[in-house]
Amino acid sequence: MILAVVAVLTTTFASAQNLDAGKPAAKLFADGCSSCHRSPRGLAKGRFSLTLTWFLKDHYATSSDSAKALAAYLESVDSVPRAAEKSAPRKPRPPRPVQGQ
Ligand code: HEC
Repeated sequence: MILAVVAVLTTTFASAQNLDAGKPAAKLFADGCSSCHRSPRGLAKGRFSLTLTWFLKDHYATSSDSAKALAAYLESVDSVPRAAEKSAPRKPRPPRPVQGQ
C-alpha cells in the first residue's frame, strides 16, 4: 500500500515536471519572449550553446531545462544560414588561363 502511494506520488511529480520541461521551446518562446523579441532568429548570434544557456538562465528562464531547450531552439533557427554557408563550395578556383593575347 505504501509502495503504491509512493509510486502514485512519484508519477504525479514526474509528470508535473515533464509538463513544464516538455513544453516545446517554440511555445516557450511564443509565451515568454515574443512580446519583446518578434523573431527567435538572430538571437543566438553564433554563441556557444553553453554561454547562451547561461545567459537565458540568468536573464529569463526559470529552470535550466527550459533554458537549455530555448538555447537549442534559438540555435536551431539561427544555424540555417550558417549551415548553408558551410555546405557551399569553398574551393578556390584555379586562375583562368589567359587566352588570346
Ligand atoms: C521584457 C522584454 C524581454 C523579454 C520578455 C525577453 N527579452 Fe530577451 N532581451 C531583451 C532586451 C532589451 C535585450 C537586450 C539587452 C540585453 O542584452 O540584456 C535582450 C537580449 C536577449 C538576448 C541576447 C541578444 C543579444 O543581442 O546579445 C537573447 C539571446 C534573448 N534576449 C533571448 C530571450 C529569450 C529566449 C526570451 C524568452 C525566455 C527573452 N529574451 C525574453 C528584452 C526581452
